Amino acid sequence: MRTQVAIIGAGPAGLLLSHLLHLRGIESIVLESRSREEIEATIRAGVLEQGTMDILDEAGVGERMHREGALHRGIELSFGGQRHRIDLTELTGKAIMVYPQHEVIKDLVAARLSAQGQVLFEVSQVAVHGVETESPSVTFTHRGEPYVIEADFVVGADGFHGVSRPSMPQQEQRQDFQRIYPFGWFGILVESAPSSDELIYAQHERGFALISTRTPTVQRLYFQCDPSDHVDNWSDDRIWAELHARTETNDGWRLKEGRIFQKGIIGMRSFVSTPMQGGRLFLAGDAAHIVPPTGAKGLNLAASDVALLARGFEQFYRQGSQERLHSYTEDALKRIWRAEYFSWTMTRLLHTFADATPFEREMQRAELDNIVASRALATSLAENYVGAF
Ligand code: FAD
Ligand code: DHB
Repeated sequence: MRTQVAIIGAGPAGLLLSHLLHLRGIESIVLESRSREEIEATIRAGVLEQGTMDILDEAGVGERMHREGALHRGIELSFGGQRHRIDLTELTGKAIMVYPQHEVIKDLVAARLSAQGQVLFEVSQVAVHGVETESPSVTFTHRGEPYVIEADFVVGADGFHGVSRPSMPQQEQRQDFQRIYPFGWFGILVESAPSSDELIYAQHERGFALISTRTPTVQRLYFQCDPSDHVDNWSDDRIWAELHARTETNDGWRLKEGRIFQKGIIGMRSFVSTPMQGGRLFLAGDAAHIVPPTGAKGLNLAASDVALLARGFEQFYRQGSQERLHSYTEDALKRIWRAEYFSWTMTRLLHTFADATPFEREMQRAELDNIVASRALATSLAENYVGAF
């Protein structure tokens, strides 16, 4: 097989890149280790920034998102028994879209397949070769048969645990930055009407909680937990008791309960691996960086990485210039470090750290009080949240 850009991973980064390249007349093949059914059913992110909506619109895959997604013009911060609204649109002129990642995946897979794009599911033994030459290749197994793709470039969009990052050349010159947090998120899906019109980020001494939504009949809730805990330790009653305790406010508002039909625990880390390119191999999305989910940035960063790469490949194939490709790491990292900073800030601000001193706990509360009292600080939070820059 031969293509221009071989893409490893059919997450949002890989699929979106493949489609953006197709719209620029550039061929690609996407290799995915899981099945189509599995990637279309994996529950992950929910919040899209304006810039991500714009990229999806530009790719011609935004129609269902606008029809079925929910535009949110504010979020609430809950602490000390009170809720405080951050009016995103008044403060920044922008809004965010709540539209689940697996729906974005369905839209992208449908768009790739209807354009006769090549997406190979359930591949195994993916390996990258010759990235320091002008003719790299990818070998893999599909339905028991071995294959080789000869390409001009390889993009590793295979997530945090993929093969691409370990295949980067000059490993000894690479620099990784990491922070692992001493807590995780317990996430549930619930059959009920929404409890709130907007997302609620709740700080509480028992730990953080987040009230999000999926559809008018399905809600997405998270609460801080021990990352080594197990879902079987959490009966539905115990989950509701914890969520009520962390989200109750003095105005009598109460979270709506419903049937819990999915439970999972995720660990939390901040991570950046540099450089994001080596020879003709480029990393995009979670393969290169991870943020804790508190700032809702991961999927949005994946989209902005591949928008940069698409422009770089376009310049290469139209003008023969590698200028944009050469500056990919530098260009992408500007946005990534700011999103890392915001995600870390939100995590620090809203979670309970078991080892925090009483003084540090008061500082955390004072920071929250400052944000809701100061238009300048609230604007800064809102700008970061909507991705205003
Ligand atoms: P992935 O989605 O991980 O896709 C990589 C793909 O590569 C996978 O399909 C995988 O099967 C495949 N793959 C892996 N190894 C191989 C291999 N060797 N060969 C072939 N294929 C391979 N982000 C936000 O922006 N907003 C949010 O609200 C938000 N909330 C989140 C909530 C949770 C609970 C979690 C877990 C994440 C959240 N995120 C959020 C982060 C977001 O989901 C990720 O940042 C996003 O999925 C990154 O996309 P990606 O395409 O880079 O990687
Ligand atoms: C969701 C996830 C997030 O990480 C977040 O900050 C907001 C919403 C969600 O899955 O709905």
